[in-house]
Amino acid sequence: MNSLVQPNDIRDVIEADRAHVWHHLTQHKTFETVDPRIFVEGRGMRVWDATGKEYLDAVSGGVWTVNVGFGRESIANAVRDQLVKLNYFANSAGSIPGALFARKLIDKMPGMSRVYYSNSGSEANEKVFKMVRQIAHRHYGGQKYKILYRERDYHGTTIGTLAAAGQPERREQYGPMPPGFVEVPHCLEYRGQYGDIANYGERAAQAIEDVILREGPETIGALCLEPITAGGGVIVPPAGYWETVQDICRRYDILLHIDEVVCGVGRTGKWFGYQNFGIEPDFVTMAKGVASGYAAISCTVTNEKVFNLFKDDPSDPLSFFRDISTFGGCVAGPAAALENMRIIEDENLLENTTLMGERLRANLWELQTRHEVIGDVRGAGLFCGAELVSNRQTKEPVEEKQVQAVVAACLANGVIIGATNRSLPGLNNTLCFSPALIASASDIDEVTGAVDTALTKVFG
Ligand SMILES: Cc1ncc(COP(=O)(O)O)c(C=O)c1O
Repeated sequence: MNSLVQPNDIRDVIEADRAHVWHHLTQHKTFETVDPRIFVEGRGMRVWDATGKEYLDAVSGGVWTVNVGFGRESIANAVRDQLVKLNYFANSAGSIPGALFARKLIDKMPGMSRVYYSNSGSEANEKVFKMVRQIAHRHYGGQKYKILYRERDYHGTTIGTLAAAGQPERREQYGPMPPGFVEVPHCLEYRGQYGDIANYGERAAQAIEDVILREGPETIGALCLEPITAGGGVIVPPAGYWETVQDICRRYDILLHIDEVVCGVGRTGKWFGYQNFGIEPDFVTMAKGVASGYAAISCTVTNEKVFNLFKDDPSDPLSFFRDISTFGGCVAGPAAALENMRIIEDENLLENTTLMGERLRANLWELQTRHEVIGDVRGAGLFCGAELVSNRQTKEPVEEKQVQAVVAACLANGVIIGATNRSLPGLNNTLCFSPALIASASDIDEVTGAVDTALTKVFG
């Protein structure tokens, strides 16, 4: 046990937590009989909880965020130095780290040109929705206001982004949803909807065109997609999908919004997930890995075509993007993001992500040969899913509680993995892996070793 915190010091903290903290995504009735888990320390790939128990974290802070790993003093120092110099000024003015990070980021995103700062992935996506609506009003007589989103994708927790959620269990009980959001079908070939065909990717993209024609192309402003669906089951679109999507957007004058909140900043082995597929987006949003959780920052990045739609007659008081995010002016965010990006470059973490991602998938495929319950393994870079089924022929999903039992068995053995949860009725059956980009071969083997043991324990 390496933790600096002794169990007796922490009892008071646990009681304060139990009495007053409302945890995210948590049913609190459970805490009447068990203690809430409190993490107290992290270094590299490892974290320690309040009891001193050590864990290997295969989900980068629980929700694919801490891309460069825990305990990075150089990021803490960069943030500290910036805070004592100037902690905040509203982002209607510029800042040194804001300008420098925007330039560094745009260097990694050929074709894009402008960065709008805010605090969370949800907020970054809301900015796009507002931009699309304003473009509709100013340039299309209010007509092109609809936003298409895809079944199984997720874009955030606010009411606006929930309206664009392709995950019914996330929206359930929070309606009514705002109008103007329209769903298109998912593209997961493993659960194919168009039969056993050769050009599945193209066909899945054409399903988007069918929706556009049904709704009327003149009513649709944007298409919002995750490059690789994350919480909806780690879905890598099949070959042919993205070329067709891009073509459809161009033909119908629809802006393409890629949500890189999970894939952005290295997760797939490229700086951005869309760069695996040669896409040219109009909007790219990002959050989690931008500063690896060392500070809250999100970015809504646009190309110059979109930006120019907001450059207009200065005497018109409504002509510009009338939006502000108070904490989008916190300069800790871009200060941390600059150092985060330097680390990824200097430590060759994109290369490591590609190599270790291949190892992770190879290990999972090997487990698939021995565990009948693994129906499908998919992913890119250090971002993988393993879908669990009770029957490989019918692809009947295992029950969510069995998936959670696998996660719990790994946790008990000191390895934190994730799973799709409370998203898709009957289909919360995918184990998720997103270790930090610094993962070593032995870390990867430890993760899959724990999964091997857990699958045997739960399914025999
Ligand atoms: C793809 C995607 N977009 C957006 C979000 C929302 O980000 P945040 O929780 O920072 O608002 C998430 C969160 O998990 C996400 O996975």
